[in-house]
Amino acid sequence: MAVSNRVETGYADVLVGLQYGDEGKAKIIDVLAPNYDVIARFNGGANAGHTIDTPQGQISLKQVPSGIFNENTKLYVGSGCAVNLWKLSVELDAIAAHGIDLRGRLRLSDRCAVVQPMHLLLDQRNGRQIGTTNNGIGPCYADRVMRMRDGIQVNIQLRDLLRDTDAALAAMVKNVAGELSVATDQVRQEVDEQLRSLPSLIDKLRPYVESDRAYLSKLVNQGARVLFEGAQSIMLDVVHGDQPYVTSSHTIPSYAFVGGDLSSRYHRFTIGVAKAVVSRVGQGPFPAELGGERSAKYCADAAITGLGKRVEAEQYKPEELLKSKDAFDVGMALRMMTGEYGTGTGRPRRIGMLDLSQLKEVVQTFGIDFVYINKFDCLSLYEKTVYGGVPVLMPLAEGQSHGEGEVKVLPAFPVLPSGSSLKPEDLPTALVELKAFIECRIGAEVVGVGLGPERDRTAEFKKPEQWLIQSRR
Ligand code: IMP
Repeated sequence: MAVSNRVETGYADVLVGLQYGDEGKAKIIDVLAPNYDVIARFNGGANAGHTIDTPQGQISLKQVPSGIFNENTKLYVGSGCAVNLWKLSVELDAIAAHGIDLRGRLRLSDRCAVVQPMHLLLDQRNGRQIGTTNNGIGPCYADRVMRMRDGIQVNIQLRDLLRDTDAALAAMVKNVAGELSVATDQVRQEVDEQLRSLPSLIDKLRPYVESDRAYLSKLVNQGARVLFEGAQSIMLDVVHGDQPYVTSSHTIPSYAFVGGDLSSRYHRFTIGVAKAVVSRVGQGPFPAELGGERSAKYCADAAITGLGKRVEAEQYKPEELLKSKDAFDVGMALRMMTGEYGTGTGRPRRIGMLDLSQLKEVVQTFGIDFVYINKFDCLSLYEKTVYGGVPVLMPLAEGQSHGEGEVKVLPAFPVLPSGSSLKPEDLPTALVELKAFIECRIGAEVVGVGLGPERDRTAEFKKPEQWLIQSRR
């Protein structure tokens, strides 16, 4: 028999958020990272993000993929991403200050769209009604499709900046001129400084830029195992979410194989991350919102007035609100007790009950194989509410239409002491039964649940090495 020394080909799994973002995807990636050689982003930009507590202080990651602490893991930013070079530079400095050198580990596709000062200004002027993060991502993607406007190139890819910095810079200056004509002196000065700093920024970032679009394919062909990290979440997809209250990129898992620069032939599993106490920031439909319209308006106003965590903490007693008969109060109590505020802005997030109807639809439509549910421990708070247990919005029965779903109350489980065992066999029976109820209703296996704010508090019911022997349903 001929002996083959062919290297076994690798594969790519995709991890996406199943709700409205902020499900704690990075916490799950931490758990999974040792099983992968590359963590790759395929959509979004600095509108994503999470904060990591380290012994040396916090690091805020926005554009660099998760997994920076795993020194054997390579990090890739695919061409589907919109890059803010100024913020990326700050991010890399912060990472370096923690003693982590990403040279040789981090690669950015040279086809990434560059966020320009014009995009930031346009988003600030137009994004409020949607509640955007003001990162210019929407205008940047819009220009990627527009390509030229009035004879000027409006989409600048990283490679344009690298090949001819002066020409790209000149286009950026022309592109922002209209916005600057109605801007304050302060804004004009800021933009001027941004543009002036660009050439040195290019020199600094050049070593990270990857011009080979087969970069990831080559690694996978040599056996690399890739995990695609979705930014934002399925309910915010530019097409599949509720326009216009969505982000501007595709967040659905199949887009990983477009914006992530890899053939879909390497796809293995799709992993979804949900949150047991659901949250949404910005405007838009949220069927399971506690306090409905009132909560939506309260949070929208708070984003404008700047009312946030501190004010709520001064004004309200969450333990009392939790017992209220008013769902709005229960939502506020849950927000305060589970810390649901924007990481950068501190703005209050809208809070909702677990929506199994939506989860089931998303899981089935987008082919989710395995699910993690974060903040599962927070469900025990519902015991003290008027519900007397955990309320969930049930999948629609035959003949029911959107909005007619039944709310079912399931037995709550006791509060877990901090540091308690995370072994499945040591967990309260009611918790395990609740998990089984959920997986049965949504049609996907819940392989892990988050049981505390610390990044290592995840109970794993089925570890990734066991997924391998699991055949697809
Ligand atoms: P944009 O992505 O900044 O254009 O914002 C569009 C919508 O997506 C707004 O409702 C944002 O609050 C929301 N959004 C964008 N990024 C995130 C995220 O990482 N988590 C949660 N919501 C997000």
